Amino acid sequence: MTVLVSGRGSNLRAILEQSRAPGFPARVVAAVSDRGEVPALEHARSAGVEALALDAARDPSWDAHLAAVLEERQVDLICLAGYMRLVREPLLSRFAGRILNIHPSLLPAFPGLDAQRQAWEYGVKVAGCTVHFVDAGMDSGPVVLQRSVPVAEDDTPESLARRILAEEHRAYPEAVRLFALGRLELRGRRVLVRPQ
Ligand code: GRF
Repeated sequence: MTVLVSGRGSNLRAILEQSRAPGFPARVVAAVSDRGEVPALEHARSAGVEALALDAARDPSWDAHLAAVLEERQVDLICLAGYMRLVREPLLSRFAGRILNIHPSLLPAFPGLDAQRQAWEYGVKVAGCTVHFVDAGMDSGPVVLQRSVPVAEDDTPESLARRILAEEHRAYPEAVRLFALGRLELRGRRVLVRPQ
């Protein structure tokens, strides 16, 4: 798999750590940044994984270029982890059904930026995170798995975001594991998790 990043990279780190566990069915072959050098790439390098600091802003055919880079490495799964860009053609169809994203809300509530603050301001009692397949929209593809986080009365957007992030770090490696084991079945908008 490859992990696409634009910044901090804590989900990349969680995936790298989990993927080193004995018997984990997938490994990260490269981490790719669309914003040049970012902290996330350091996590890849220290795990001995190829780190590509690319610059999408200067590349008018970014999604075609990226698709070629990933095909060259025979990547079978793309994980977006804090990747601040919509996936467009031809990348989308060349990797159809093979792109995952993580979002820090219980979708379809609170898509887009600053989801944890949106949830806190709305006053929900349960927040959480979602791993979903990627389609052409923003945070709109079929849901693979979700983990919930209760909202406490004394939470701030920051404390809530920290607890959601801890759940993201459990959810994303688990979704990758299910995908790599071939246990995810897409039926329309629904993703069924096949028994082992
Ligand atoms: C995470 O909250 C993720 O859900 C969202 O962007 C953030 C990325 O964090 N899409 P990190 O770069 O993985 O630390």
